[in-house]
Amino acid sequence: SSIDEWTGNNLLERKLTSLLGIKEVKVVAGDSDANKAIKGQLANEAAKQFLERIGDGRLVAVTGGTSVASIPQYIQPFERGERLHFIAARGGIGNDIGLQANIIAATFAQACGGTYSTFYYPESLSEEAHEIFKREPAAIDMMKQYERTDCVIHGIGDALRMADMRGTAEDVKSMLQKNEAKGEAFGFYFNEVGDIVHRITTVGIQTEQLEKVPLLLAVAGGKKKAEAILSYMASAPRQTLLVTDEGAALAMLEKL
Ligand code: F6P
Repeated sequence: SSIDEWTGNNLLERKLTSLLGIKEVKVVAGDSDANKAIKGQLANEAAKQFLERIGDGRLVAVTGGTSVASIPQYIQPFERGERLHFIAARGGIGNDIGLQANIIAATFAQACGGTYSTFYYPESLSEEAHEIFKREPAAIDMMKQYERTDCVIHGIGDALRMADMRGTAEDVKSMLQKNEAKGEAFGFYFNEVGDIVHRITTVGIQTEQLEKVPLLLAVAGGKKKAEAILSYMASAPRQTLLVTDEGAALAMLEKL
């Protein structure tokens, strides 16, 4: 039992863990919306949790976004890191190349001394083209890898903000609004009770596959993300570990 067991944050962590019904919540001090440096604390804590818990895991899938992208700088090469293989949790190409899952997977591999492979998949496909593309050997191979993924490290974003950033078509955006989409993760958009109201046309890890991943690390902070995090957590797999900040944690508690 460490000293921080007696600090306020630990109480906050325990309260949130039980209210969200997930494995554990880690809360770093501060609010990353108000203070940019807190994002580094969040990433540092996520790196620490990852290293402590990866154990004999081998295959790690990561998503894009600034929160996950900030983690590798807090990782030093370690012995078992050599056996780690990193992949993107879904195919796709974002606007900011440095924040793409594929690039982040490579950065993680470099930090850990491990390996990575890339998987690109156009997000602009029609349903018809997607039906054909997803039968390509590379896509089928990715789906097989998701079946045996040991760890997923992912971000959570505000649904409408993510839709905007992705240049989503107006009709889809109004559909998201009508269906009251709140949070987004893995290309899935969730409403308040955690139902998926929309998904990006892509090849990526599926919710059934997530259920089977032993180590799920969600990394998201900032007061403005509270609703988004809650909507994802409403149906998140129970083994999820959330690394967040006080800004988001206190705002979530107010809404629970
Ligand atoms: O686009 C990848 C992604 O992980 C989204 O699923 C998520 O909503 C977003 O990035 C989070 O980004 P950030 O950490 O920059 O807020």
